[in-house]
Amino acid sequence: MAQKLGIALIGLGRIARLSHFTNILCHPKLDLKYVVDKDTAMASNFIKQYRNDIEVLPPSDLQTVLEDKSLDATFICTPADSHEEYIKASLNSGKAVFCEKPLTTDEASTQSCYAVAKKHGLLLFCGFNRRFDPSISSLCRRVKEGEIGQIKDIRTIVRDKNLQPIEYLKISGGIFTDCVVHEFDLVGWLMGCLPSVIYAQGHAWVEELREFDDVDHAFVVMKYPSGAIVSIDAGRGTKYGNDHRMEIHGSNGVCLQREAVYPTSVVSLGDSGELRENRYADHYTLWRDSFEAELEHFVNALQGKSENVVTAEECKNIAKVIAACNESLKTGQPVKL
Ligand SMILES: NC(=O)c1ccc[n+]([C@@H]2O[C@H](COP(=O)([O-])OP(=O)(O)OC[C@H]3O[C@@H](n4cnc5c(N)ncnc54)[C@H](O)[C@@H]3O)[C@@H](O)[C@H]2O)c1
Repeated sequence: MAQKLGIALIGLGRIARLSHFTNILCHPKLDLKYVVDKDTAMASNFIKQYRNDIEVLPPSDLQTVLEDKSLDATFICTPADSHEEYIKASLNSGKAVFCEKPLTTDEASTQSCYAVAKKHGLLLFCGFNRRFDPSISSLCRRVKEGEIGQIKDIRTIVRDKNLQPIEYLKISGGIFTDCVVHEFDLVGWLMGCLPSVIYAQGHAWVEELREFDDVDHAFVVMKYPSGAIVSIDAGRGTKYGNDHRMEIHGSNGVCLQREAVYPTSVVSLGDSGELRENRYADHYTLWRDSFEAELEHFVNALQGKSENVVTAEECKNIAKVIAACNESLKTGQPVKL
């Protein structure tokens, strides 16, 4: 069997512990050699349940990782405010990069990260896992192939059951950067260009968020040069479960993702009415398939067998849209792009 690809995972927090760590460990072509995390005690305790040959290092020892010639890529899962530094350090040491969304927190740093990747001819893969969700990827592919004609409007709903810890939210960049970014990616992928006008409104039902100008519920309306209109309804701390829905209306029909709110389509009809399973209890079970498919695609892209998914231009546009949403939320006015 060909030699495995050496990987270092940087950041072993929620997303890594609940999906990427075990996905990497189970992947037959990957060899997880290092985990770098500020909290080395937590990381060591977690890892020892699985393996005892993965080196756990604090960020101050990053150089050890970067100098390891057997390492092919870093997998960055730290909060967004540290992505740029880790992306550039990895690329400048000849390592390809998988970076969790958002790539960085603004347009200029996003562009400069892609410039470094281009300079070294290395893969910089931004982890927008929803592109790999079986329903969403089928929906988007069919619409892009013209099944419903020209897009007239898109509606999406994205609701997370749990509100992340306040300490995380404080440094996350806000609801548009941390949560709605996935919708901006999907809509940008479908539309293939920037909107011409954006209007955003939001509210912090959770009072602590007001202290750092964030909201837990937001609506975004975007109009595109073609005339298409997009609405995004986003919320966190939704009591009923994790929920994602998308509907695309075109000149020849409508294409929609119907069952995303339930793990199965089983319905029981009896005296007490219609019973279904509880909705997805958390983010990671809702998106499990997409994280696995995303990793597979990354490995193929690392081996030159498939294309990168999200382009530098798309990432730059996402950063522009986020900045416009933040401005609209602050001023209460629509923003022209
Ligand atoms: N694709 C998705 O659906 C999805 C879901 C959740 C999170 N994410 C993304 O994953 C990233 C991490 O989010 P999370 O929820 O796991 O955060 P988290 O706060 O739970 O975990 C971050 C981890 O990184 C460590 N850390 C923090 N700063 C560090 C630094 N400078 N160097 C090394 N280690 C550091 C922390 O100790 C912690 O273990 C974010 O970019 C977030 O947007 C994506």
